Amino acid sequence: MAAPPAAGATGLGFITGALSAPTSPTEAALRPLSFGDFAGQPKTVERLQVMVGAAKRRGEALNHILLSGPPGLGKTTLAFILGQELGRNVRVTSGPVIEKAGDLAGLLTNLEEGDLLFIDEIHRIPKTVEEYLYSAMEDFRLDIMIDQGPNARSVRLSIPKFTLVGATTRAGLLTAPLRSRFTLNTRLDYYDRATLEGIVRRSCGLLKVEIDSAGAKEIAARARGTPRIANNLVNFVRDYASEKAKGKITQPVAAAALELLEIDAAGLDEMDKRILRLMAAHYQGGPVGLGTIAIAVGEEADTLEEVHEPFLIQEGYLARTAQGRVLTAKGYGAIGLKAATGGDQATLL
Ligand SMILES: Nc1ncnc2c1ncn2[C@@H]1O[C@H](COP(=O)(O)OP(=O)(O)OP(=O)(O)O)[C@@H](O)[C@H]1O
Ligand SMILES: [Mg+2]
Repeated sequence: MAAPPAAGATGLGFITGALSAPTSPTEAALRPLSFGDFAGQPKTVERLQVMVGAAKRRGEALNHILLSGPPGLGKTTLAFILGQELGRNVRVTSGPVIEKAGDLAGLLTNLEEGDLLFIDEIHRIPKTVEEYLYSAMEDFRLDIMIDQGPNARSVRLSIPKFTLVGATTRAGLLTAPLRSRFTLNTRLDYYDRATLEGIVRRSCGLLKVEIDSAGAKEIAARARGTPRIANNLVNFVRDYASEKAKGKITQPVAAAALELLEIDAAGLDEMDKRILRLMAAHYQGGPVGLGTIAIAVGEEADTLEEVHEPFLIQEGYLARTAQGRVLTAKGYGAIGLKAATGGDQATLL
């Protein structure tokens, strides 16, 4: 059984390898550090609080947790909050950085009892390494082969009881054996406008920028349900306000700044619009395959699938069918077109 955490034992750990999204200085400054600061995601937060409370009460390591969902919704933030709330270290690494079993052994044997190991982009761990993770997660041991040929032998390493916190934007790519080894598999959803409005206000408070209620609403409405985007917009609008409007963010200031970024009133950006326009103009609204769309708009298929498509589908601009992606009436509307009856013709409004 692990000793209860010593006061002040919390550390934010070291970074091993690259994170999926570079963290800017402002992003770090705006990142919530406790559950109390973390807005939204009530189900996920409650599940995590239950687990944290129980682990603390028993003085044991937290069970393994998988956080999934589109980029910028708070997976990394929650991993650090878990460490903070438990008073434990969080060691950070990422799937593609762990190339061989030895890399994993190095990471795991350096942990202290109760530490959190945060593996970002866990779906990108090589399959050969993934198998070692099974016994590490289940029995806190690693059986590693050393040497080759006649000298090859297996060595058993025992590792401290740790908590694996995995994050992924593509939960579907995780193998079933790996997924089933997480006690909690929780998915983050896009944020509603009211919650984003609160995040915008909080960020403005931390950045000491004046903003009124209509200004906060305007930014929240255009943030694609994503706190990271909301914070990026706040940063840009803040610059715009200081250059053109004596520093205060009001609705007209926010709207003008976001127009300049070509983010429309619903939060769709240029790439979203290109996808919708392409589908209408060249594929009669679909069905069309993701790979085809990717080539035509000049973007990686993975980026479309992780970043653009989830929002477009969630908001009802696109639908996913067995034959491919299909533009909906709302999708046509967003690019100023009207779907003709039968859905195979479009006319300019
Ligand atoms: N619930 C929240 N309340 C306030 N701010 C938040 C919240 N969630 C995220 N943020 C802000 O959004 C930023 C991005 O969040 P985070 O880095 O945790 O996203 P992520 O899910 O790990 O994204 P990725 O998949 O790209 O790694 C954070 O720095 C933080 O400032
Ligand atoms: Mg992250």
